[in-house]
Amino acid sequence: MSKFKTVYTCKNCGYTSYQWVGQCPGCNEWNSFVEDVISAKESKPGTTPLKSPCKLVKLSEVSSDPLRRISSGIEEFDRVLGGGFVPGQVVLLAGEPGIGKSTILTEISKNLKCLNILYVCGEESIDQVKVRAVRMNYAAENMLMLSETNVDAIVLAIEQNKNIGLVIIDSVQTLSSDELLGSPGSLVQVRGCTQMLTNVAKENGIPMVLVGHVTKEGVVAGPKVLEHIVDTVLYLEGDSQHLFRILRTNKNRFGPVSEVGIFEMEEGGIKEVKNPSDMFLKQRMANSAGSCVTVVMEGYRPLLFEIQALTVKTSFGYPRRTASGFSNTRLQVLVAILERRAGLNLGSLDVYLSVAGGFKINEYAADLAVCLAITSSVKDCPVKEGVAAFGECGLNGEIRRVTQQDKRSKEAVKLGYGEVISSDNTKNILEAVSKSISR
Ligand code: TYD
Ligand code: MG
Repeated sequence: MSKFKTVYTCKNCGYTSYQWVGQCPGCNEWNSFVEDVISAKESKPGTTPLKSPCKLVKLSEVSSDPLRRISSGIEEFDRVLGGGFVPGQVVLLAGEPGIGKSTILTEISKNLKCLNILYVCGEESIDQVKVRAVRMNYAAENMLMLSETNVDAIVLAIEQNKNIGLVIIDSVQTLSSDELLGSPGSLVQVRGCTQMLTNVAKENGIPMVLVGHVTKEGVVAGPKVLEHIVDTVLYLEGDSQHLFRILRTNKNRFGPVSEVGIFEMEEGGIKEVKNPSDMFLKQRMANSAGSCVTVVMEGYRPLLFEIQALTVKTSFGYPRRTASGFSNTRLQVLVAILERRAGLNLGSLDVYLSVAGGFKINEYAADLAVCLAITSSVKDCPVKEGVAAFGECGLNGEIRRVTQQDKRSKEAVKLGYGEVISSDNTKNILEAVSKSISR
């Protein structure tokens, strides 16, 4: 009998089946099954005797000293990690191609002058990495380059060079091992290589960052299944039209998961943004109709955004409702609420909505600001200076509580928006309109 069996694994959730299926029974994703190989060695439970008895450890006797952290030199990156890298930690940095993963890792190497960094480039040539370093004004004296895709050679290099402080693998999808079946980039190869690298990082106590590409559907190409092998999964997000990038944690064995870090792509590298609200509100025009400031929670952090609305007479029989950075369906609901509960006549108007700066808001907390921006545009009267609004709008026109209202209010006041409209002081949309729009 063959030593291996072919199975099919869902690259979205890891569900396995002996037959190919179109839709995954685990996560309902379509066309997500790829061929995978598992060991066919059958063992009957209880038949393999253990060589030595298991040793039990009392949890109370385990040291509870705080973890030793190695700062990445970038405050925003450290915060997302929970304070910095932990020795032996394996971080998967995932993101779409071209989003800035290699750039952010070069920036970290530049900051960690006292550590030797092993940079394994499987994707780019050493010359290309050099060009990036020069562009970022980085002499790269602490960067040891290895142009290799064979994971066995990488493991050997890590074991032989004891002076390495951080390993960067760019990217994990290019790796392969002779000991594993399948072609480079296949599920078996990527998973096996990640496991081998994780083992060597843990044995040597070296933190390691693996770069993983994400496909359009948001799946770490092929192996979403990698996520359970590594300690921390970070996603770098953003769009090519805008310069800011958001770093989110999806999983973290050594810190919080809801933290976000905000960065800006610049000509000479990627820079952290210490005051993101300032950045998003910087270009706001004073006293313009159709604009309202809201406070959105990104992880544990309140951020201020400007919501812009434009209403124009429709040229067709069917008025358009178009949103960018906000859900179109939610916009339609809010338009209906405004018509019925605030007496606004939007039947003959096109409504365009945008979150200034290109950010995507997924929270209902922005409802109230969306309603006020639309009302302000229809009435052609600006929302009063110094007003920030947040709250979910119910179908009856009531304003509902959202999470962390105090934190949001404090942030708004801190940034000069002293008059906060929320469910704490306002019952319904009509009241919010009369408080914030003078006409
Ligand atoms: P890169 O880090 O190579 O992306 P990834 O590794 O995620 O595929 O970044 C690619 C983009 O970043 C590229 O379009 C150029 C831009 N960039 C800058 O804007 N400034 C810089 O200093 C560098 C090095 C790149
Ligand atoms: Mg890259």
